[in-house]
Amino acid sequence: MEFIDIAKSRYTTKKYDASKKVSEADIERIKEILQYSPSSINSQPWKFTIVGNQELKEKLGKASYFNEEKLVEGSHVVVFSVVESAANFEENMESYLAEGAVWYYNNFLKPQGDEKVQNWMSEQVYLAIGYFLSAIASMNIDSTPMEGIENDKYKEILGLDGYQPLVAVMIGYRDEEDGNQPAKTAKSRLELDSVVEVL
Ligand SMILES: Cc1cc2nc3c(=O)[nH]c(=O)nc-3n(C[C@H](O)[C@H](O)[C@H](O)COP(=O)(O)O)c2cc1C
Repeated sequence: MEFIDIAKSRYTTKKYDASKKVSEADIERIKEILQYSPSSINSQPWKFTIVGNQELKEKLGKASYFNEEKLVEGSHVVVFSVVESAANFEENMESYLAEGAVWYYNNFLKPQGDEKVQNWMSEQVYLAIGYFLSAIASMNIDSTPMEGIENDKYKEILGLDGYQPLVAVMIGYRDEEDGNQPAKTAKSRLELDSVVEVL
């Protein structure tokens, strides 16, 4: 399928078919897709947690506001977490970053302060989410990005040490009746010319 067709057919799934699960083989592919996410200076300041266990999903569902039903009925949830502090990042970076990348970090990012570094790391995680939403659609798997989660509760439930959950992405297969699918509700976007210009 052409990428433009994937872009137009993927959508935020609001209701899942609880009887359909993502296969083990696809979960293995998804693990690698996540591993290959791109990031500035190859910083990779993240942890991806995939939860398929029903009990654990339901526990997370209780910490997911209006998203709870998706956690109960969807197949797996992928939690995108960021390294919790600049200090944690700096502790490990030299073991895997190129020399030039460490230089860039120390001379351009670090002098701007911890808050800037934390925001920059979160930006990398959000980039991985965007990449993941397209990748998962290319596998004909439905998904829901969810900022509507209680981040601290997720951290506690998942036992994430040194990482802060930012966004969860539910994956699975749509309920045929899901009213949000493009065949039932047309996708809504700003006018092309108001958001894209070619000079
Ligand atoms: C970072 C992010 C967080 C979102 N959080 C939620 C959420 O908590 N629950 C939900 O149902 N949709 C959520 N959405 C879905 C958006 O509302 C949706 O992407 C947007 O309306 C465009 O619709 P489409 O994805 O169907 O094209 C989120 C989307 C993004 C990118």
